Amino acid sequence: MNLPKHIGIIMDGNGRWAIKRGLKRSEGHKKGGKTLEKIALHAKNLGIKYLSVYAFSTDNFKRSEEEVNYLMDLLIYYFNNKLEKVCKDNIKVVFSGRRNNLRKDVIEAMDNIILRTQNNTDCVLNICLNYGGEEEIVDASIKLAHDLNQGLIKKEDITRESFYKYLYQDLPPLDLLIRTGKEKRLSNFMLYQMYYAEIYFSNLYFPDFKEKDLDKAILFYQKKDRRFGSVKTD
Ligand code: IPE
Ligand code: IPE
Ligand code: MG
Repeated sequence: MNLPKHIGIIMDGNGRWAIKRGLKRSEGHKKGGKTLEKIALHAKNLGIKYLSVYAFSTDNFKRSEEEVNYLMDLLIYYFNNKLEKVCKDNIKVVFSGRRNNLRKDVIEAMDNIILRTQNNTDCVLNICLNYGGEEEIVDASIKLAHDLNQGLIKKEDITRESFYKYLYQDLPPLDLLIRTGKEKRLSNFMLYQMYYAEIYFSNLYFPDFKEKDLDKAILFYQKKDRRFGSVKTD
């Protein structure tokens, strides 16, 4: 059936969705949260093994304190209140991103959901929070330099594949990247992992993205001839 093993979603357009309706940006984030719930469950039911979602970028700290705090409170709400459901659905939650400058209550809620879902096996939901793709490569390089200096690895051990072990999570590369919200850019998302990803841009604002739109993106992926640099010989 040629399903993508790892899908990434840049969930963009929450604010514009709200403004268009004369609502506050926060209402868009709330609706975006509900959309993610539906999309994650649908992906799992389709048999997708890894789903990475961009929830908050390192650059999103440039937003107003009010918006940042609203988003952090919303994340805590989800981690605490959807825990039971995530466990029932056998989804393992992991995080990518820098933890150091996150609020203590956010880190506590993250640690709790990591612990409680660690043995779940149907699929992995990787939540990118305070995440940046360049930062991830820099942080991985620092860990790698440490291991090299300590003699834990040799220079010859450093390969494209082994570098994954140093990223925030050791996940397979992205097969399909979806960005909603009309913009056609990457905004510092999973730069290492998307090396051969098929990229699907959707004009829908994320709160309007439905299960059938995920199906469409997967169909788009299934029609691609993924050559990885080679030439077809038939
Ligand atoms: C994406 O929606 C959610 C986050 C970045 C947290 P935006 O908040 O970027 O919505 P727009 O792009 O301003 O519409
Ligand atoms: C990317 O969206 C980050 C998330 C979806 C969390 P942004 O709205 O922050 O990206 P730009 O500013 O349009 O590039
Ligand atoms: Mg945006």
